[in-house]
Amino acid sequence: MAEQATILFVCLGNICRSPMAEGAFRDQARRAGLAVHSNSAGTGNWHRGAPPDARAQAVAVMNGVDISDLRARQVTREDFERFDNIVAMDSANLHELQRLQPPQSRARLSMMLDHAPGRAGESVADPYHGDLEDFSRPGPMSVPAPRA
Ligand code: 4NP
Repeated sequence: MAEQATILFVCLGNICRSPMAEGAFRDQARRAGLAVHSNSAGTGNWHRGAPPDARAQAVAVMNGVDISDLRARQVTREDFERFDNIVAMDSANLHELQRLQPPQSRARLSMMLDHAPGRAGESVADPYHGDLEDFSRPGPMSVPAPRA
């Protein structure tokens, strides 16, 4: 287990929800002066190396956060050792992470909205085929980030 608090946000493509969550968390941690290591990844690899979707970047900017530097990647076995907390955006992501988690890994798996009052067990809907409104729903940018 790492000494520094570590948190990984995971969605399907790593170009919409999880980079928004990573950006919001990174910003909050910086403002709070917290030394945390955060990152994001996708369960799929179709967008490897791509920047966040333009709609995700636009909603992040509307929230005062720049995520243009982030690049998509796929979850790896090593992530289960490197990160104490792994936060899935939806139940499909969570089930995939549970399937991939090596037996010796101590990483705590949860869903983003488990950390929002009264919304435990709910998924952040996949906004990829939606519009800006779908990207602006409560979740990645607006839920208080879990304590790492
Ligand atoms: P994300 O959204 O999982 O929030 O990054 C998606 C991005 C791409 C695809 C699906 C969801 N896709 O099918 O390519």
